[in-house]
Amino acid sequence: MKKPIEFIDLKAQAVVLGDDIKLSMDKVLSHGKFIMGPEVYELEKKLSDFTGAKYVTSCASGTDALLMALMAMDIGPGHAVFTSPFTFIATAEVICLLGAVPVFVDIDENTFNLDPEKFEKAIEDFHKNPRHRGLAPKCVIPVDIFGLPADYKAINEIADHHQLKVIEDGAQSLGSRSGEKMAGNLADMAATSFFPAKPLGCYGDGGAIFTNDESLNEKLVSIRVHGMGRHKYENIRIGINGRLDTLQAAILISKLKIFESELKKREMIARKYREKLDGLVQLQKIPDNCLSSWAQFSFLCRDRNSLISQLDSQKIPSAVYYPKPLHLQPAFSTLNYKKGDFPVAETVSETILSIPIHPYLSDEEIDYITETIQNSLRN
Ligand SMILES: Cc1ncc(COP(=O)(O)O)c(C=O)c1O
Repeated sequence: MKKPIEFIDLKAQAVVLGDDIKLSMDKVLSHGKFIMGPEVYELEKKLSDFTGAKYVTSCASGTDALLMALMAMDIGPGHAVFTSPFTFIATAEVICLLGAVPVFVDIDENTFNLDPEKFEKAIEDFHKNPRHRGLAPKCVIPVDIFGLPADYKAINEIADHHQLKVIEDGAQSLGSRSGEKMAGNLADMAATSFFPAKPLGCYGDGGAIFTNDESLNEKLVSIRVHGMGRHKYENIRIGINGRLDTLQAAILISKLKIFESELKKREMIARKYREKLDGLVQLQKIPDNCLSSWAQFSFLCRDRNSLISQLDSQKIPSAVYYPKPLHLQPAFSTLNYKKGDFPVAETVSETILSIPIHPYLSDEEIDYITETIQNSLRN
């Protein structure tokens, strides 16, 4: 191998972007509108065109995107929000920040996304559980794990039937598809992240919220700037400082130009991996009508530690997303969940492994990675 294999190769991406990204940043430096400059609105329009969602409100991070979406839906004390225990902490953290209560629902063993059947059962059994006394279920946040959209057809239908709202945690899934629709346009609202390692990442923190509902979007625009009304010194609700920097917006506009070709490369790499690893590991199931954005290429492997050592010894980076499901995290200990409550999320956390899938992996690197895994698991 000529150069070390990177888990995410932003340097190779920077070479492809060439001067374009620097020119976009220079433009911001010369106009000097660092807060809510014209690039912020240009990016929002481009993301609306890209996803098909009518309204896009950019913001300071994926965490803020989720928080603002919940705030726009007036989620607060006395409310319960269903979500997956197999996700990054931010998904459930924002529910607690607003004084509401996360109610975890186990994942599907094949897609690793929230299981619609278990979701329906959790709603039906909700009031039988003494833990839920005094709580009203309001909303569900399915997570598009590793870039694969959750089963929104089923989840939206169940949520609708029980008058619950649906917020897509699409932090990892911008660019993915479910049927004819793109992530960002699959539920009442969606949140995404532009953290540098995400499929569309900026050079710092950033995020966006998507919706087709004009009144929800009006609230988001207000919440983003301290609950502003007609101007920023008229404050009509409690909000946050949740703005996306103009410089980050300029970087994202530049990166959007190559995003579709990057997504195609991720898909090609995923196909190669799947062909070569099928039967050796348990691959994430991608339903026929879905295209993942492949934020991560992850599979289940019973002897994970030994495979990680083999990969390490061949200088191949790997990562465990996520080693502990949220219901077992000390941060949520007051919710009184215990080991065994969500067996699928627990088993997946114990056996999941992610390998490099950035768009700049060469065929030689893909072969080297798959051969190392094959040799390790066949021995
Ligand atoms: C599923 C999920 N939700 C939310 C977030 C939070 O995004 P950010 O890091 O931009 O705040 C992340 C980021 O890692 C994530 O993976």
